[in-house]
Amino acid sequence: MTATNPISVALDTPELDRAIALARALKPHVGSMKVGMEFFYAHGIPGYGKLAAVGLPIFLDLKLHDIPNTVASGMRSLMRLDPKPAIVNLHATGGFDMMKAAADAVAGQSKLIAVTILTSLSDDDIWAAGFENSKNAQAHARQLAALAKSAGLDGVVCSPHDLAGIRHDLGRDFLTVVPGIRPADTAAQDQKRVATPEAAMAAGADILVIGRAITGATDPAKAAEAILAGLDAR
Ligand code: C5P
Repeated sequence: MTATNPISVALDTPELDRAIALARALKPHVGSMKVGMEFFYAHGIPGYGKLAAVGLPIFLDLKLHDIPNTVASGMRSLMRLDPKPAIVNLHATGGFDMMKAAADAVAGQSKLIAVTILTSLSDDDIWAAGFENSKNAQAHARQLAALAKSAGLDGVVCSPHDLAGIRHDLGRDFLTVVPGIRPADTAAQDQKRVATPEAAMAAGADILVIGRAITGATDPAKAAEAILAGLDAR
């Protein structure tokens, strides 16, 4: 076992019972659970409380993106959750002022991280979305990560492909949370910029967000253990 388990399992389900069952089964095998919008919109604060009672730290992945005042107010509401999420996040493309206002609202009560460029977006996709100056997801992610750090955030969500540049620019102490993880023999599905767990850790990931490779397995606990064994064998 690694000293600190780097796996954050993405409990991407709108079903309360399934989320709780997965969390219980995976508690000994992962470091935290990522709870996203499909769960939170369906079950709200009561569902969050029931899931948190399982006892794993929560990365609340709601990816806020709005004007600074609205995002700061949203963060203040999230800080009233009990227990507080270990990590909350927003989109770095909301800009410096939005990130700074959110960091002031969170005030160290949770780690606050910024999504840079979604791992489901290719260079062509970001071009098509109108980011005309950067038909290059890696360069764009590096720029957004630097902006997030300057606004006082604790870290970023980034693709494994963006890690080396972000580590080079921002050092070892900036938290990197990395989705788009696919063990060697699994399909990329809707993700485009992916890597194996071993490659992502070698590139400097702190936390690996892993969803379907664990939750879609016949035995999720066994799948998580197999990933950890691969990391220990590095
Ligand atoms: O199933 P899979 O391992 O692809 O799940 C990845 C999880 O990480 C999903 O919950 C997705 O919302 C999230 N995520 C991502 N890319 C980002 C940020 C979050 O895939 N840039």
